Amino acid sequence: MCRASYIRGLTNPATLTTGSTDRSIPDPEATAMRIRDLTLRAKVHGAFALILALDILAGLAAINGLRRVNVDAVTISDTWLPAVGVLGDLLSGVENYRIIEGHALLTQDEGERLASEELLWNIRDKIFLLRDSYEHLRPRTPQSDSLIEAFDDAWRAYQNSSREMVWHIFQGQAEMEKARHSYNAGGEGGFRDSHDRLREVLAYNVGMGRQATENSKRIYTTTVISIVIVIIATILLSWLLGVFIVNSVAKPITVLTEAMRRMAEDDLTVPTEVGLRRDEIGTMTTTLHELRGRLLERRKLIVDEKESLRKLQTAERELLESERLAALGRMVAGVSHEINTPLGSAYTVATTLVEAHREFSLLVSENRLRKSDLDAFLERVGRASDLISMTLQKASDLIRTFKQVAVDQTSSSRREFELGEIIRQVVLTTTPLFKHRPFKLDIDVPEAIEMDSFPGPLGQVLSNLLTNAVIHGLNGRDNGTVTIEARLQGGDAATIAVADDGVGILPEHRSHLFEPFFTTRFGQGGSGLGLNIVHGIVTHVLGGTIEVTSTPGEGARFAIHIPLKAPEQTKTPQAPHLAAPTADHTPPIVGNQGGKT
Ligand SMILES: Nc1ncnc2c1ncn2[C@@H]1O[C@H](COP(=O)(O)OP(=O)(O)OP(=O)(O)O)[C@@H](O)[C@H]1O
Ligand SMILES: [Mg+2]
Repeated sequence: MCRASYIRGLTNPATLTTGSTDRSIPDPEATAMRIRDLTLRAKVHGAFALILALDILAGLAAINGLRRVNVDAVTISDTWLPAVGVLGDLLSGVENYRIIEGHALLTQDEGERLASEELLWNIRDKIFLLRDSYEHLRPRTPQSDSLIEAFDDAWRAYQNSSREMVWHIFQGQAEMEKARHSYNAGGEGGFRDSHDRLREVLAYNVGMGRQATENSKRIYTTTVISIVIVIIATILLSWLLGVFIVNSVAKPITVLTEAMRRMAEDDLTVPTEVGLRRDEIGTMTTTLHELRGRLLERRKLIVDEKESLRKLQTAERELLESERLAALGRMVAGVSHEINTPLGSAYTVATTLVEAHREFSLLVSENRLRKSDLDAFLERVGRASDLISMTLQKASDLIRTFKQVAVDQTSSSRREFELGEIIRQVVLTTTPLFKHRPFKLDIDVPEAIEMDSFPGPLGQVLSNLLTNAVIHGLNGRDNGTVTIEARLQGGDAATIAVADDGVGILPEHRSHLFEPFFTTRFGQGGSGLGLNIVHGIVTHVLGGTIEVTSTPGEGARFAIHIPLKAPEQTKTPQAPHLAAPTADHTPPIVGNQGGKT
């Protein structure tokens, strides 16, 4: 909705301009949207800038107010107050002048009169000086000009009549009447006029001073009010900024933190939409939303992978089972072949025995039996019985041997045995491998090696190595030799090696030999599990190592080094799992010089 209104704001007809004059009316909604689209940083900086601007404004207003109050105070103290003082002195000077004038007229004492005249001169000088001072102080306004001019005129007129009066006084008693007339007529009018004009000037100056004081008070009040307003606005803005930070930053971050916490606890049901925003919180929300999406995808992948792993394990189990069945099949074939020979001999002897019995019965029935015939028959029966007994004994021995091999292979149990015996049993079960093939099998076990280990798994290892030697090493050749040799190593270990003089192993195949499913006979019956299983049995069940040496074209030799006493197992060893060689399951070093694993 917000995005829609944002787009609407951009295309609002109100924002369109007509002609060359931009008469667009800003759309408040679009403006609000633009502000909302600003980054958090810009918003917070903007708000602080606004508060700062208000503070600066308040400071400037205060400075300006103070400056104006100061100007007024200076005017009052430097102009109006001195002016009023000077005018006051001037007024009293004018009044004193009038009094001295009267005294000079009334006194009979000549000395006093002279002194009065002297005084009048002094007062006149003083008034002149005060007038001059006022001239420097007075404001240069038209009203001030006209008022002071009126006083000057009145004072001048008063001085004229006063000088006339003084002149009459000094003429002596004869002129006294004229002097009195001059004092009362022109003098009184001039004095009143000067006095009144001066009072007007004084009143004007007092009024102006009062006005300046009022003005100063007003400026002071205005300044105080504006500062208070700005302070209130600053407080309000700070509060709004706080509310904004709480609503736009703290709350969404709390929501996001909670969402992240729950996601960390693997709860991906948590909603991650906090609203459509374009600032940092919006980016965080979108990122978290995407993260949740990816986690959901990964979780699905993990589920799929678990399912694949489960299927793979099933396939692995089936493959191992088929490998066991194949081994069992080879054993059965070996058993059949080996038992077939004594049983065939016994059958042949039994057949000749039947023939001898038929011939003997004929001689008896025809009454032609001679002593020599009887002796020959007894001789023949005796030999046949011995032969049958011997061959059946051999078959019985063979069956007992195979029974042991079968028990070993199926139960994988631990027991004491002689190594040469196990090797011979394995060779017996692999006889069909060499049948109709021009290969020779040499067994080189010069001494009895007693072991306490797992004969079944050991047999499986040797059987696999023998099979590989024939199928891979000597395949397609018209001659070849496979050798099995066993040697005692010190007093507690043995080395058993299966070697052939066949094609050998290519260098590029060497590092892969023990990997599961590595085979060069893919599609021709090879599953690539044989050596992997061998490796697993040797290292994990028998507690030994396996070493391969090969020179291409000259054959291969697989040697296993195992302790005579196998390590204790926590449980009965099972068919080993397919194992990819890893750090602790080091791939074998294979080469001309050989290596161990
Ligand atoms: N004696 C050998 N001479 C030459 N190559 C050998 C010999 N033994 C093993 N190899 C090579 O090692 C590969 C892996 O052997 P492995 O026994 O693991 O699998 P396989 O014999 O091909 O199949 P499987 O044993 O599962 O039927 C063989 O395919 C072959 O290339
Ligand atoms: Mg094999």
